[in-house]
Amino acid sequence: MIRRKDELDKMRKAGRVVAEILHEIEMHVKPGVTTASLDKVARDVLDRRGARSNFLGYRGYPATICTSPNDVIVHGIPGSYILQEGDIISVDCGAIVEGYHGDAARTFPVGEVSAESAQLMKVTKEALEVGKSQLCPANHLNEVGRAVEQVGKRAGYGVVRQYVGHAIGTAMHEEPQVPNYWPGKPGIKLAPGMVFAVEPMFNMGSSETVQLDDGWTVVTKDGSLSAHFEDTIAVTEHGPEVFTA
Ligand code: MF3
Ligand code: CO
Repeated sequence: MIRRKDELDKMRKAGRVVAEILHEIEMHVKPGVTTASLDKVARDVLDRRGARSNFLGYRGYPATICTSPNDVIVHGIPGSYILQEGDIISVDCGAIVEGYHGDAARTFPVGEVSAESAQLMKVTKEALEVGKSQLCPANHLNEVGRAVEQVGKRAGYGVVRQYVGHAIGTAMHEEPQVPNYWPGKPGIKLAPGMVFAVEPMFNMGSSETVQLDDGWTVVTKDGSLSAHFEDTIAVTEHGPEVFTA
């Protein structure tokens, strides 16, 4: 799907709201804070900006953001969990402005974290950078996954395959998917006006995932730590433009 300029402007606005939410949440991440309170921070920013949540009610999802501490890979539900010194916490959020969607995630350290945790976050963020740099006209979509996977494998991490990125626009999840690995074929040819959410998830141990009984929370099978970075990025003539920066 190729977006017109006026559509891209709306997606830019949605992306800016998402970036603001993540910034405010980062300010609130510290030991002693509940994940439910981070959800409140997100709701307040959405209200202030006149934006809507694309997460709340999505297939019955009960919150505005996902909060995924430590061995939680994605889709953790905010609640009574209290952040502890040394935790890492992935926060995923989105916004709808004038019918257009933004979606982004970051993993934050809670206080001082171990060198291993810091490295996991650094490498996963780098994978997003390398992946997004593939979003150039004439390139093929699955170069993103090829690049992301290479970064994760070189570092010895489990590269999650069960959950993938996606095109985004008037819905949060549009076709095609954006795998974080080489799926065996190059995929669509990229063109200016296409917009994707690229979202590598790396585990310190194996790539295997388990979904908990709440129907949402996804954890690492081996209990190892996991990090998740995501941005909404447009393909332009001049290369990638990150809407959620
Ligand atoms: N932001 C997630 C994604 O990257 C989607 C979360 S679905 C929700 O695709 F229901 F949990 F919100
Ligand atoms: Co996404």
